[in-house]
Amino acid sequence: MDQRLETNDAFAAFIAEMEGKSLLRFLTCGSVDDGKSTLIGRLLYDSKRLFEDQLATLERDSEKFGTTGGDIDFALLVDGLVAEREQGITIDVAYRYFATEKRRFIVADTPGHEQYTRNMATGASNSDLAVLLVDAKAGILTQTRRHAYIVSLLGIRHVVLAVNKIDTIDFDEERFVDIRNEFTEFARQFNFESVVTIPMSARYGDNVIDRSVKTPWYGGPTLLEHLETVQVDEDLSGKPFRFPVQWVNRPNAGFRGYTGTVASGTVHPGDRLVVARTGQAANVARIVTLDGDQDEVQAANAVTLTLDTEIDASRGDILVAPEHRPEVSDQIAAHIIWMSEEELLPGRPYLLKSGTRTVGAAVSELKHQVDIESIKELAAKTLKLNDIGLVNLSLSEPMAFDLYDDNKTTGSFILIDRFTNATVAAGMIRFGLRRATNIHWQALNVNRDSRAALKNQKPCVLWFTGLSGAGKSTIANLVEAKLHLMGRHTYMLDGDNVRHGLNRDLGFTDVDRVENIRRVAETAKLFVDAGLIVLVSFISPFRSERRMAKEMLEEGEFLEVFVDAPLAVVEERDPKGLYKKARSGEIQHFTGIDSPYEAPLEPDLLLDTTTADANELADRIVETLAKGGYLGNGA
Ligand code: ADX
Repeated sequence: MDQRLETNDAFAAFIAEMEGKSLLRFLTCGSVDDGKSTLIGRLLYDSKRLFEDQLATLERDSEKFGTTGGDIDFALLVDGLVAEREQGITIDVAYRYFATEKRRFIVADTPGHEQYTRNMATGASNSDLAVLLVDAKAGILTQTRRHAYIVSLLGIRHVVLAVNKIDTIDFDEERFVDIRNEFTEFARQFNFESVVTIPMSARYGDNVIDRSVKTPWYGGPTLLEHLETVQVDEDLSGKPFRFPVQWVNRPNAGFRGYTGTVASGTVHPGDRLVVARTGQAANVARIVTLDGDQDEVQAANAVTLTLDTEIDASRGDILVAPEHRPEVSDQIAAHIIWMSEEELLPGRPYLLKSGTRTVGAAVSELKHQVDIESIKELAAKTLKLNDIGLVNLSLSEPMAFDLYDDNKTTGSFILIDRFTNATVAAGMIRFGLRRATNIHWQALNVNRDSRAALKNQKPCVLWFTGLSGAGKSTIANLVEAKLHLMGRHTYMLDGDNVRHGLNRDLGFTDVDRVENIRRVAETAKLFVDAGLIVLVSFISPFRSERRMAKEMLEEGEFLEVFVDAPLAVVEERDPKGLYKKARSGEIQHFTGIDSPYEAPLEPDLLLDTTTADANELADRIVETLAKGGYLGNGA
């Protein structure tokens, strides 16, 4: 028989078989020592029907054949993982599929070791229930507590504590009850909807599928019984309608459709929808799919919606039910799980991607870090790989969102590094902050243009960057003196000086340097607004923050001046004796020694201080300004 036909038939049979069965996605947490692999093996093989391999093939083929029928969950999961891989992190989660007479299951199996918080988080974000495994001999461990916390953080409401290897404690009821009580007591703070503790031996099969005769004192369900019957009632289709627009489909002038996947809710032709961000309203005209028009579409299905009126909506907008609109804000509070080897730098601009929308975002405040060993809140300045924290985020523009507890799709996001494009964090929105929306811009009669016109110059920032001792301040000083003589209005912001006042609270850690540059960039922007030519002389070692400064200003207002000198040369010069101190360990985090310097890739001006003297270089800058029209007609 033709291989393709065979697969197609098998697929059809599978879909028929699965039709009408509910789906439970669950996550297993625990280490190899706890018997996790054995347990998963048992569930897969002893549940009598092994669909895993079959399904894996089918799933691959279903895309080719395009006959996904009503079941797109599996493909979606795989898509999700591919997306993560493209974002540059390897998530180590294995998904397995099996089914029984009563239910279909997807198990997310994640390594249990602590550096795998990010893996666990990935598995947990797709799951309805978590099975936490403990070794009956060892009892509740720190790791168990950590798993319970992460699981609750990611919104899983149902937990099974599998007390495994019960045979190794001779099926001792008393010991089991102790473990159960300890866990129940601990788990109370998380408000799980159900917590079921089961005495089990994965190795010998006790209470996994079949009831064990060796635990006559246990009256609860076996693991599989519980998994088959637990009501997780995540009725996505019954929730308020959310449709993140993936793209606007305009094949010709006569057709304009919004394509995407329904995140939650159900919609019919004639239903009224609004664009969450702007409130513009229209009625659904058609629900278009590859299989023709539909009268209804529910959560998790990909469709194209056409509307009866033209509205202004594009990729990233969310079409929603008018009576249940999401929040819209440019300030949010969220829990984030840090997933990058590079630590979080509050103030650094990242990209935030939620559903189909991407905006700029910076952590404006790290409220606290959660110590996942003790579940206590700790003061912190940064987050490292696998750390969890509650942060305030400031977005570059308002975004529509739900709270994670209400909607996992529209309430979650990832943060992306703007240079490497890697995912650095996963986030869960806890609440919107409205404070900032109460501050309105004051319209001013005298504005930047009028101030600049009076001074007969084009305001700008000359941003000098380079190693300490490269000659930034020397050259900047000369430039300012020359401009002054020419009657131009200037102001100088110098690292050493600003650090005595405005930034006296900041040191030289990466976190502090980011904040140092953020404040200076904001200040420089104010001076530009005042109509001045601003000279900024800071090491400013990171590309991200220099780019942030540039993006705060208008086109042509930011000139990056790279004062270049090799480390060996500046170390030789060592005007303040700081390199010597850094080498001897007296000063820490010294740029070039034990703190990085990221040289500009495309500076507007590259000054080589080893071949020209400061005065020549200063003249070159003034010349550049004159040519660029910054010095008005008098120059
Ligand atoms: S930046 O990296 O945050 O931009 P900034 O330009 O403000 O640095 O300050 C650098 C100046 O602080 C140097 O010129 C030097 O005089 C002094 N300094 C003291 N400690 C350090 C250090 N650890 N690293 C760099 N500069 C330091």
